[in-house]
Amino acid sequence: MATNDIKLAALNARYGMNPPHSEVVLASEIVRPGKALDTGCSTGRNALYLSQLGFDVTAVDNNPRAIEGLKSVVAQEGITNIDARVYDLNLASLDEDYDFIACTVTLMFLEPSRVNAVLADMQAHTRPGGYNLIVAAMDTAAHPSPVRFPFLLDAGELREAYAGWEMVKYNEDLGTMHSGAQLQFATMLARKPG
Ligand SMILES: C[S@@+](CC[C@H](N)C(=O)[O-])C[C@H]1O[C@@H](n2cnc3c(N)ncnc32)[C@H](O)[C@@H]1O
Repeated sequence: MATNDIKLAALNARYGMNPPHSEVVLASEIVRPGKALDTGCSTGRNALYLSQLGFDVTAVDNNPRAIEGLKSVVAQEGITNIDARVYDLNLASLDEDYDFIACTVTLMFLEPSRVNAVLADMQAHTRPGGYNLIVAAMDTAAHPSPVRFPFLLDAGELREAYAGWEMVKYNEDLGTMHSGAQLQFATMLARKPG
């Protein structure tokens, strides 16, 4: 285990957090440290991981308790490169530009009528050559979602929304939830033209 992994595992254990999302870990092997936005960060497992890799992280969630929890970890650990803020993604009004925007298992909780605006806003606030990582639940004819999240992607919808971007990774694989139910997820790491 690398030193960073050991430090993070200890941090996660101390605060009862899950390890970072596996797609964030994989993306960080490609995306060089820069300015990152973690959207729907919850208590910050991905933000903490990215901060340990040297990213300058803005972490946003509309749940004030989650942000308070992350702020408390940041303060207790003396972390200087995470800015945690309460923010409703449905507003689609980011005010800074980023090298990397992560949105893991969050899109499905947004208001369906706002998703196009949210994606357009994320794209507009990604620097040229920067990356968006999205993992989101789907509802397709082949695999209707057993869970009625507020928003579910159609087949091919996320890829279409990122027309013109380089698809570094894209799949719509089937996953199994803790309950045993099967659900299709779109997983995308896309790079904005430089
Ligand atoms: C399933 S959790 C995923 C957390 C994190 N991205 C991860 O990979 O562990 C979804 C998160 O999205 C947040 N969320 C839901 N709707 C939101 C909104 N409109 N604006 C900001 N965050 C939102 C929830 O509060 C929750 O923390």
